[in-house]
Amino acid sequence: METRASFLHDTTRSAQIYKEAARWIPGGVTANIKYFEPYPIVMESAKGPYLHDVDGNQYVDYNLCYGALILGHGHPALSSALQQQLSQIGTAIFGTPHKLETEMARKLADLYPSIEQVRFTNSGLEATLLAIRLATAWTGRTKLAKFEGHYHGSYDQVLISVNPHRRDLAHPPSPTADSNGLPDYYAENTVVLPFNDLDQTADILKKHRHEIAAVIMEPIQGGFIPPDPAFLRGLRELTREYGMVLIFDEVKTGFRIGLSGAQGRYEVIPDLTALGKVLGGGFPVGAVGGKKEIMELCSPAGRTDILTTDSQPAAHEHTTPLFHSGTYNGHPLILAAGLATIETLQTGGAYQQLEESAMKLRTGIEQLLNVHGIVSQTVGVGSIFNLVLKEGSVRQIQDVLESDLSLRKKLDMHIVSHGIFIKPLNRFSISLVHTSKVIDETLERFEHGVKRLVRK
Ligand SMILES: Cc1ncc(COP(=O)(O)O)c(C=O)c1O
Repeated sequence: METRASFLHDTTRSAQIYKEAARWIPGGVTANIKYFEPYPIVMESAKGPYLHDVDGNQYVDYNLCYGALILGHGHPALSSALQQQLSQIGTAIFGTPHKLETEMARKLADLYPSIEQVRFTNSGLEATLLAIRLATAWTGRTKLAKFEGHYHGSYDQVLISVNPHRRDLAHPPSPTADSNGLPDYYAENTVVLPFNDLDQTADILKKHRHEIAAVIMEPIQGGFIPPDPAFLRGLRELTREYGMVLIFDEVKTGFRIGLSGAQGRYEVIPDLTALGKVLGGGFPVGAVGGKKEIMELCSPAGRTDILTTDSQPAAHEHTTPLFHSGTYNGHPLILAAGLATIETLQTGGAYQQLEESAMKLRTGIEQLLNVHGIVSQTVGVGSIFNLVLKEGSVRQIQDVLESDLSLRKKLDMHIVSHGIFIKPLNRFSISLVHTSKVIDETLERFEHGVKRLVRK
């Protein structure tokens, strides 16, 4: 009760604004992920590692827009790239090809071992959607295999078994719909796999070897549970053997785990890669890249598609290309922001600094929780980690479901009330402006939060 009382006391303006929002916007939020009880905090401004809410509270931000803001808030490199681009081109967008599209595509092909060609989208969701459509067209098969607990965006085909119930690990997972309003078709045509369990995965893939078009996965589950390298390699071999397209959804891990994402770190090369988040420097973006022969399926050159006016179909082997379009795809301002972000990350030592900050914070949090008798561990890779309140290994979503989630929620509310912003139960992300000093400050705030929790 005490936490709730202090939260309510400190966020009265947020409560008022939220109440008004909820009159006009379902649940008062524009994305379900932004909601938490009793109401989400309304922010007003941000600078560097800090967020400021409408009640004048300051928070060290570890949500960083779900990991997108790897340079922190308002980085000068980003602001000047945007201003320069806007004044140079004289408009927000051309609606035609432009030079930055090629520049960014070449950059992605240079950095990501799997990428030969690229298409841009406006979100991670659209990127995974296009990747799956490409795989379906390439193989001529219908089913999609995905891993239990892996998130790929908020659309029908992938809202399956993202948030499963606990199950007996001796039995493989079965598909469950995560939202109302999904036609049964999707659960019926989805095969769900257990992450980091190569034996069960191999059995399931073998059983459906003639039906599965693609295996899509977060190579690091939820951005924080690392894969066994042998598991990733085994999966690569199996998908190759069965002619399935392997899609790495690197929306969280791309440019976060390193300049070449998880595929660079683990040296396992998928057929297609989906990117988003960091790629846009905080602006809406996504990209799909991969093998030229698969990517070329969506080329309209020499073909007829639904938006071309040719009445005569071109004499081409495939007269209908795989359709992909979007008014804002390849937006010049967003690509300028993305290129400035990548350039900043390419300056010496950026990833080392990110990892050192993350490790310092993880060690500090583990020590504080340990001193106060809270069973816990941090689990993560590079600049992303999560806090899991349990002993023993954490290898997949089922292990997280076994942890003390209700204590974690209470802890999260305490630390939010002490000026550390995370979305309750969600992961922590670090930015380049989370310096050693900022981490020290965070640990002080964290200690106050934990002390308040255990005092109760
Ligand atoms: C791994 C992964 N894929 C896809 C998405 C969807 O991206 P967006 O929210 O940009 O649609 C997300 C978003 O969190 C994600 O984490």
